[in-house]
Amino acid sequence: SSPGFSTAVVVGTGYGAAVTALRLGEAGVPTVMLEMGKLWADPGPDGKVFCDMLRPDRRAMWFKNRTQAPLASFLWLDVANHDIKRYPGVLDRVNYGDMSVYVGRGVGGGSLVNGAMAVTPRRSYFEEILPAVDADEMYGKYFPRANQALGVNHIDQHWFETCRSYRYARVSRKAAARAGLKTVFVPSVYDFEYMKREEAGTVPRSALASEVIYGNNHGKRSLDKTYLAAALGTGKVTIKTLHQVRGITRQTDGTYVLTVHETSEDGAIVARKQLGAKYLFLGAGSLGSTELLVRARETGTLPELNDEVGRGWGTNGNVMLGRANHAWDLGGSLQSGMPALGIDAWDDPVNPVFAEVAPVPAGIETWLSLYLAITKNPERGHFTYDAASDSARLQWRASQGKPSIDAAKSLFDKVNRANRTVYRSDLFGDTRSFENRFTYHPLGGLVLGGATDLYGRVKGYRNLYVTDGSLIPGSTGVNPFVTITALAERNVERVLAEDVAR
Ligand code: FDA
Repeated sequence: SSPGFSTAVVVGTGYGAAVTALRLGEAGVPTVMLEMGKLWADPGPDGKVFCDMLRPDRRAMWFKNRTQAPLASFLWLDVANHDIKRYPGVLDRVNYGDMSVYVGRGVGGGSLVNGAMAVTPRRSYFEEILPAVDADEMYGKYFPRANQALGVNHIDQHWFETCRSYRYARVSRKAAARAGLKTVFVPSVYDFEYMKREEAGTVPRSALASEVIYGNNHGKRSLDKTYLAAALGTGKVTIKTLHQVRGITRQTDGTYVLTVHETSEDGAIVARKQLGAKYLFLGAGSLGSTELLVRARETGTLPELNDEVGRGWGTNGNVMLGRANHAWDLGGSLQSGMPALGIDAWDDPVNPVFAEVAPVPAGIETWLSLYLAITKNPERGHFTYDAASDSARLQWRASQGKPSIDAAKSLFDKVNRANRTVYRSDLFGDTRSFENRFTYHPLGGLVLGGATDLYGRVKGYRNLYVTDGSLIPGSTGVNPFVTITALAERNVERVLAEDVAR
């Protein structure tokens, strides 16, 4: 093998990629991971690795001149966003016309920026979205394996009832109960014992210091502390950062050659590299992996890719909304940035909704109860190739978001009626009450059984695999990273047993 050749290459370092790299490393397979973002390990001038939501700086976002937070305004004022310097920051918002997609950038992918909610989907719904996957195996083996390796933990319910930082969640629970709705505790990969100490003032605050969406300095078991640490520990896995994969070709001997741009922190390309691999795993996320294969098909470098490549994309039915609180039911100025409760109305036969009770870590009383609702929106988008920009474009029309709003509205109208409250219309830049123009949960594009076989093997190409959220057909009914992790565990086990020569 030549210097630019590796037995296995994994593109990306998010959930699917991290699982795959760990299991390859454990099996003794030399593996290189390529990540377009930074390694988040060195503290900035303030002594912190990540900035918080209240004082965002260049670390917050991926090459933007101004932050683009999901709550665009407060009392219609443009107070949420700040001008920043362009930098390979940790959160990206990829804007495609009517839909914007938030993704994490850096070693750990989405695990660096997300809310840590670690929810296993309801089995009956998993069977509905991925009927060809053996649910007994998933629920008996791979979901438990994923939960264990991710470090999922549960809140101390006694503490929950008395702490300051979840008063907002207790207020939302009471409002839901008045409407006859059920709330559930959600497991997390944020260390709840650490959070207790944050509130007690014995450790530096993170979840309680408005650290969410732009990274957490403490308490969160992001992938760099779990799967990726274990992968590096095998001694077989290396990670190259600020390495963006642009193109994939296949040699006549069946190996793959990747065109990779190594970039500097000002975004300039400092090197163009060719890296070879026998086994190539795409874990660049729903947007990243789908773009790589759409580009490869449309530019003819992998002409056998089928028409399913780029299809079946969905938002997991995401829609955000706020309710105005009464003066006697306020959420408080100290709010844990990591959600702990959800309203579980997934059994509603007409409008199934799982709504996370979201924090508003503004550091002041906002008179607001915020929710991120996950709904069962049947609409799907697809990706086309734009030759001028050499990129994939998501095709999603504003009208396709309507089913998400209809479902969330039917649920929260009940909550408002029962509590004599109203929606907030000052939060999303104009006067709308429901924000469905962004998603945190991009899923699909390379759907299992369509673009790939039932184990993520790309159809038409040997030794080429998809490992991430692009396999899931647009919806999981809950926050998706546990599903992505468990599915990757299942697929890599099969691929190691059947495909990888050792
Ligand atoms: P993921 O997106 O994690 O990783 C892909 C990686 O590949 C990234 O690091 C990216 O930089 C890199 N990459 C992309 N293209 C590349 C290229 N061409 N070359 C090299 N590298 C490339 N989910 C959940 O279950 N619970 C929660 O609480 C939340 N909360 C939440 C909040 C916010 C703000 C966001 C943005 C998201 C969430 N999510 C969530 C969603 C969750 O984080 C998401 O579903 C997973 O991170 C997706 O995992 P993947 O493995 O698909 O890719």
